[in-house]
Amino acid sequence: MSSVLKDRNIVLGVTGSIAAYKAAEIVRLLRKRGASVYPLMTQAATHFVHPLTLASLAAQEVALDLFETKQGRMRHLSLAELADLVLIAPATANVMGKIAHGIADDLLTTAVMATRAPVVLAPAMDEAMYENPVVQANMRELKSRGMHIIDPVKGQLASGEVGKGRMVEPQKIVDYAEGVLQSRQDFAGKLFMVTAGPTREALDKVRFISSYSSGKMGYALAEEGIDRGSRIILISGPSSLLPPPQAEFYSVETALEMKKRVMERFSEVDGVLMAAAVSDFRAKRVFSGKIKKNACTSLRLDLVQNPDILQELGRNKGDKFLVGFCAETSGLKEKAKEKLEEKNLDLIVANDITLEGAGFGGDTNVVLLVGKDGEAISLDRRSKREVARKIWDKVKEFMPT
Ligand code: C5P
Repeated sequence: MSSVLKDRNIVLGVTGSIAAYKAAEIVRLLRKRGASVYPLMTQAATHFVHPLTLASLAAQEVALDLFETKQGRMRHLSLAELADLVLIAPATANVMGKIAHGIADDLLTTAVMATRAPVVLAPAMDEAMYENPVVQANMRELKSRGMHIIDPVKGQLASGEVGKGRMVEPQKIVDYAEGVLQSRQDFAGKLFMVTAGPTREALDKVRFISSYSSGKMGYALAEEGIDRGSRIILISGPSSLLPPPQAEFYSVETALEMKKRVMERFSEVDGVLMAAAVSDFRAKRVFSGKIKKNACTSLRLDLVQNPDILQELGRNKGDKFLVGFCAETSGLKEKAKEKLEEKNLDLIVANDITLEGAGFGGDTNVVLLVGKDGEAISLDRRSKREVARKIWDKVKEFMPT
């Protein structure tokens, strides 16, 4: 069974404790379960373990400097934004004290302050330090703010003595991080409909009009929604993908069939994510047999417009949450805003299909998210599952609780 860590971005903060050497094993185990690991070290940590060790195991540069930029963006912001989980292991008394009191004077503490992702800390220190009331108070403060602390255990400490303060073993830390992601059920009790894939509009018995859509974006949305606790109705045009077994799945062929299914269930759902590439036109008349080439030297196809399913949903929106998608070749932001208004949506996901790594068929996407508040967020190239995660994050942000 695949781990929820698969395709997740874990920012691993390493601070200055002798247990820092165990961070190497944590990186290895996280990667083994399919996560991408972004190591971030404090200056003190670099005295205990060489950044190259973590960089090699993570196959990622180690972030060290607050003022370093990556593609023009401050590192703490890019790390804070890409993180699905921030794991600090080992966490010293010092770093916990700083985070508990809102101090952000290095890359790690600034990234923690800037992230919306869950934060897990695995303390490691000497017993006397661990028992110090100020450390205990700081840990309570962190817990009360929703951070997760993996209590250290009793065992051999760096001093040679046996006592409480020994960091939990890497395997347990990784299991814990997995559990935190698993329990992020922020759509529990909701029902969403997702449409995916292309539609097929028959011309005759063997040919049809369709698009290059693979269904990957819609299926990724369905999977992510399920992982976050939502029930999902997935309505898909022809696709070679396997629908997630937990989804209520309907396979359709044409835009009219898709519309029928969507309308049947619309009243029940909390929202619709309309990722399908619905054909705008269908043949006015479908030939009953096969169109033969010897019957004519040229062929004119008469097409009629299909209904715009999403626009119709927008007209009857009520308090349902509507997400539309659009594929454009220029003027992305303006067109996205126009469509958002025209179709009465809450959020639109715009693809510039001329960009490498964006749009139909591939495993990655490059999108612009435009919300009804007018804010536009551009997401650089990333897996469709990661894009799906950001879309659900946005839905969560806008939806009334
Ligand atoms: O206007 P445009 O086709 O670019 O809008 C795309 C959005 O509208 C997508 O979310 C798509 O699923 C939806 N759509 C629809 N019915 C159509 C065409 C598009 O629901 N006939």
